[in-house]
Amino acid sequence: MSGVKGLYMYRLPTLLILLFVFVQPGSSIAEISGEDIFNLKCAVCHGTKGSGTDKGPPLVHKVYRPGHHGDYSFHLAVNIGVRQHHWPFGDMAPVKGVKREEVDAIILYIRGLQREAGII
Ligand code: HEC
Repeated sequence: MSGVKGLYMYRLPTLLILLFVFVQPGSSIAEISGEDIFNLKCAVCHGTKGSGTDKGPPLVHKVYRPGHHGDYSFHLAVNIGVRQHHWPFGDMAPVKGVKREEVDAIILYIRGLQREAGII
C-alpha cells in the first residue's frame, strides 16, 4: 500500500509543475509581436515595415514622428478611423479586432523602425 501512496504523493506536485509550465496566463498574447499584428492588420495598406503602398501612406515617415502624430493618434486611427488629410489615398476605416495592448505593441514596432530610419 505504501507504494501506491508514494505514487500519489509524487503525482500531485508533478501535475502542478506541468500546469505551471504549460498554462501560464497571458503567454499566448505575449508571443504575438507588434510586427506580427502590423503585418496581419496594417501592412496591406501601410506596407511591410511601414514603408507604404498604393493604398496607404508610409508610417515610417517624418509626418508620423511622435511630435506630429503622438501615440494616441494610432489608437484613434485603429478605433475610429482617419479622415483623409495628409495624402491622396482616401479615408482609413477603423480596424476591427485589434486590442488596446496590440496597438501599443504596433506603436513600439513603428517607433523602432522610425528610430532606425533616423526620423526620431
Ligand atoms: C485599408 C487601408 C488601411 C489599413 C488596413 C490601415 N490603414 Fe492606417 N491609414 C490609411 C490611410 C489611407 C491613411 C492616411 C489618411 C490621411 O492622412 O490622408 C492612414 C493613416 C494612418 C495613421 C495616421 C493617423 C493620423 O492621425 O493622421 C495611423 C497612425 C495609421 N493609419 C495606423 C494604422 C494601423 C496601426 C493600422 C493597422 C491596425 C492601419 N493604419 C491600417 C489606410 C489604412
